[in-house]
Amino acid sequence: MKSLLLTGILALTPSTSADCTRAFLTNATTAYVAAQTTGKPSTLAALLSPHLNYTESDKTVDIATGVLTKAMTIDHALSLHDPARCATFTELIVTNPAGPYVIGTRMVFDPTELKATLIETIATKPGDWAFNATGYLHWTSLESWPPIPLAQQLPAWALQSAADAYFTRFNTPSLEPPFSTPCARLEGGAYTDARATGANTCGLGLPSNLTVVNRRYVVDEEMGAVTIFLGFPGLDREVRGKPMADAHTFRVERGGIRYIHTVTTCEHAGCGMNGTTGVEMPGN
Ligand SMILES: *[C@@H]1O[C@H](CO)[C@@H](O)[C@H](O)[C@H]1NC(C)=O
Ligand SMILES: *[C@@H]1O[C@H](CO)[C@@H](O)[C@H](O)[C@H]1NC(C)=O
Ligand SMILES: *[C@@H]1O[C@H](CO)[C@@H](O)[C@H](O)[C@H]1NC(C)=O
Ligand SMILES: *[C@@H]1O[C@H](CO)[C@@H](O)[C@H](O)[C@H]1NC(C)=O
Ligand SMILES: *[C@@H]1O[C@H](CO)[C@@H](O)[C@H](O)[C@H]1NC(C)=O
Repeated sequence: MKSLLLTGILALTPSTSADCTRAFLTNATTAYVAAQTTGKPSTLAALLSPHLNYTESDKTVDIATGVLTKAMTIDHALSLHDPARCATFTELIVTNPAGPYVIGTRMVFDPTELKATLIETIATKPGDWAFNATGYLHWTSLESWPPIPLAQQLPAWALQSAADAYFTRFNTPSLEPPFSTPCARLEGGAYTDARATGANTCGLGLPSNLTVVNRRYVVDEEMGAVTIFLGFPGLDREVRGKPMADAHTFRVERGGIRYIHTVTTCEHAGCGMNGTTGVEMPGN
């Protein structure tokens, strides 16, 4: 009797949780890149929660009809893995002139079920902020993002604090974010250090009275990298008050910001500027 009862209780107990490991997350980003390559979101089915919230530029859409249905030849993929948040970020560059894209995707998994509850994508194409996929690939190819040697890895909070300082600077001009020298920012395809001066060019063109909203993080200690998804107001001149869907990825070396990559959609082609400046400057 007693053992029967016990068996019944055990049967009702949920199976012990698998850990959200880097290995699991790496499999997940590999599967994501494969799904985008083939244009078959159905290949992700085993990784998706029945309660998946899938968004593109902050709008909830059906994953079965979204950008994942477009097969793409991916020229470059970079992924961050965050076991503590059970989350990932992937940057994809597609230079195919028939359909160029630069895509930033954040996936968040339930840490016990190991199923994605949120996939948010910012799929930029011609007409989005400073968009130039050829440029994005070109400048990326000149950069180096190897894993940080174990002895030099910083804790997640330190990486996050460096990245957060960048956006805090947007409305606190007296604050100096921990930029390293050199430091370069890649926005849509435009590079702040196109002349290869090797200077710190990450502080160029920053706003002084702008508050970004709704920061969501992926932090990878091995990569020394942080991605922040956020709402960035001021960029689209036709809807200045409206935050645009944006992701910034920061590479931090020895405590200093070395590289920044941005991916931002515009609501109106070219963000209402008829041309791109490649500088984060909401003024004028
Ligand atoms: C990752 O994928 C490989 C190959 O599909 C599989 O053998 C392995 O169990 C997976 N690892 C995790 C942690 O999911
Ligand atoms: C889905 O995610 C988006 C972006 O994070 C959020 O704004 C929205 O409220 C979420 N929707 C649901 C149903 O959870
Ligand atoms: C895009 O970037 C490439 C590589 O830097 C550059 O040659 C090209 O002129 C850029 N295109 C535009 C429209 O700015
Ligand atoms: C951009 O161009 C469109 C039409 O070409 C024009 O109506 C609009 O005023 C222009 N916007 C700016 C900010 O120059
Ligand atoms: C914010 O800064 C921009 C650019 O310097 C300026 O044009 C604008 O008037 C400022 N807005 C406020 C509310 O101070």
